[in-house]
Amino acid sequence: MTARKGIILAGGSGSRLYPITLGLSKQLLPLYDKPMIYYPLSVLMLAGIREIAIITTPQDQPQFQRLMGDGSAWGIALTWLVQPAPEGLAQAYRIAEDFLDGAPSAMILGDNLFFGHGLPDLLRAADAHDGGTVFGYHVADPERYGVLDFGADGRAAAIVEKPAVPPSPYAVTGLYFLDGTAPARARDVRPSARGELEITSLLEMYLRDGRLDVQLMGRGYAWLDTGTHGSLLDAGNFVRTLQDRQGLQTGSPDEIAFTQGWIDAGQLRARIEIFRKTDYGRALQDLLR
Ligand code: DAU
Repeated sequence: MTARKGIILAGGSGSRLYPITLGLSKQLLPLYDKPMIYYPLSVLMLAGIREIAIITTPQDQPQFQRLMGDGSAWGIALTWLVQPAPEGLAQAYRIAEDFLDGAPSAMILGDNLFFGHGLPDLLRAADAHDGGTVFGYHVADPERYGVLDFGADGRAAAIVEKPAVPPSPYAVTGLYFLDGTAPARARDVRPSARGELEITSLLEMYLRDGRLDVQLMGRGYAWLDTGTHGSLLDAGNFVRTLQDRQGLQTGSPDEIAFTQGWIDAGQLRARIEIFRKTDYGRALQDLLR
């Protein structure tokens, strides 16, 4: 099988976070001590993915590039793509079609934060699965998300985008493992009533073909929202609480690159030098001991 490639979708207007995001991309905002995009990037790297396309708005792309470069500092290859207007999540597969070149993919939204024991195993299982895999997560406010509707046999029968009356408390998270047919299928997605190429329409195609595996992420996982000023602050506090208690970092691409063996001790030392005034750098230093 061709190696799975990654996509981070980091466009959009961020209008729910105005005025902050009038001048800065949402996915560059701090989640405590790191830019938000470090967290979804870490998830793809934990899944073993080294070829990643990052989709941003045209105007924000230079700032992301300044932050992340070509990925070589982490032993990965970053490809930079743009989405001129936020016309829907499924559009990402059209934009990334040439980049994917028939390969299976894992797409993650640039504002999604995942944490939990066993996450690497969950990712590896999804990577090994043929077809598509999405993750369901129990939330208090499912009406804000794509929601799973389970049939009498307990299997997912439908996915409904922002239903007024949610058929279950399980939201579909912003992490999608799809096979190489995703770009071709995305071409058949028609705009929804709100004018977007919905990811749920694409997922429904996989579901209808019996090609979608739905994995529930249990309560031992954190899937955090960063969609409002309050939830952004809460997510930042979550990261701080965890890191202060453990003395370990979460969402550190530098740490993952080193533990995956994608960069060597010499390369890590060069990074430690850059980050020497921070806990982020001190945690990298600890890795060398
Ligand atoms: O977070 C998971 C949810 O994400 C799913 O449960 C829903 O099915 C899915 O539609 C999506 O819902 P949201 O309402 O959260 O999508 P939102 O429009 O907020 O976009 C999510 C992120 O993707 C956001 O950071 C902006 C970015 N985005 C969004 C659109 C529509 C883009 O980069 N391009 C786009 O065209």
